[in-house]
Amino acid sequence: MNKKLKAAVIGLGLQNLSDHIPTLLRRRDVDIVAVCDPDLKALERFKEKYPSLSKNVGYHTDYRQLSKVNIDFAIVAVPHFLYPEIVEFLASREIYLMKEKPLARNLAEADELFQIPGFTKYCFICTQRRFNPLYQFAKEKLDTLGIPFSFNAVYKLNIANPEEGWRGDLVKSGGGCILDMGYHIIDQLMWWFGMPDKLFSTKSSLATEDVKNYSEDTATIAFKYENGLHGTVVLSRAAGEKLEHYSVHCSRGHISGNKKSLIIRNKTGEIIERQQLEDDDKMLDDQLDFFIKRVHSKAGFIDVVKRNFENMKFIEKCYGGQKRNSKQIFTTPLYI
Ligand SMILES: NC(=O)c1ccc[n+]([C@@H]2O[C@H](COP(=O)([O-])OP(=O)(O)OC[C@H]3O[C@@H](n4cnc5c(N)ncnc54)[C@H](O)[C@@H]3O)[C@@H](O)[C@H]2O)c1
Repeated sequence: MNKKLKAAVIGLGLQNLSDHIPTLLRRRDVDIVAVCDPDLKALERFKEKYPSLSKNVGYHTDYRQLSKVNIDFAIVAVPHFLYPEIVEFLASREIYLMKEKPLARNLAEADELFQIPGFTKYCFICTQRRFNPLYQFAKEKLDTLGIPFSFNAVYKLNIANPEEGWRGDLVKSGGGCILDMGYHIIDQLMWWFGMPDKLFSTKSSLATEDVKNYSEDTATIAFKYENGLHGTVVLSRAAGEKLEHYSVHCSRGHISGNKKSLIIRNKTGEIIERQQLEDDDKMLDDQLDFFIKRVHSKAGFIDVVKRNFENMKFIEKCYGGQKRNSKQIFTTPLYI
């Protein structure tokens, strides 16, 4: 029987408060012993949401204070520009960490992370759709539906002011809807179909008038594969609605779905299989379980890092080497 693991939570923002802390609390083999955020308002939100937990953890305003705390791993969900220093701090102390996506703000930064001693041993990067049973099932089913010939995916949010906060700041975020929310869809499609042979990407920051130089709020990406498969992804942080959906069309049938449901149709459109995800927590529970098993086995995360590196290569192509800080509409050179 393994001893209980001691966890620290770095960043008390939306993602840790709504996803990672409840997932940690569902485990009997983990104790959250420390939380860290320099923002006292974030601490207040944490105390309000988790009154009993907040009485039993140490609170730190600087992650460096964790050098004096005995922890086995940390969950890190912070603005994107802060990851390199926090990753280096933890990996150099041989502390495992589960860091939120993206791997990095750009490919050069991903390369720098790769150079940190212990990075691939200690660092896991969250892309939770890989742990969703419906996405795993869809991937298996794709192998039985003949030749996939086209797909489309849409991921939209209803952020009224996409220029605000660290996400709107290109230096702090590294990119807008492509790098941030789009990372999940890119990861899903890279997992299912691999790197496209050609891609075409257009992005814009036009949802907020009179504000210049904020991270792109909207993008359209077209994929093309040498075997004939092609598809599109439409991303927007400012579309006035929340929507996530994909469809894949194959020579013997069609799969469509999202995080909660999956439908398979035959060639005439008749539904031949329908699945719902009953357990909302399963995807995050399985992701944390994967991480904790690797902590115990000391197997490291080279596979996870490598696939995230591929995501970064894809994203770099989407940005096409263009400056990311202009309000103009940018389009990559036709088929790079
Ligand atoms: N996997 C997902 O579905 C998903 C969803 C949302 C966000 N995310 C990712 O999670 C991360 C955080 O996003 P968020 O929405 O929670 O952002 P957020 O702005 O809500 O929270 C970030 C928190 O980090 C804190 N912080 C700032 N500097 C810090 C420091 N030096 N040390 C510790 N904490 C610090 C901030 O005060 C804030 O409370 C990002 O990488 C984002 O891409 C992932």
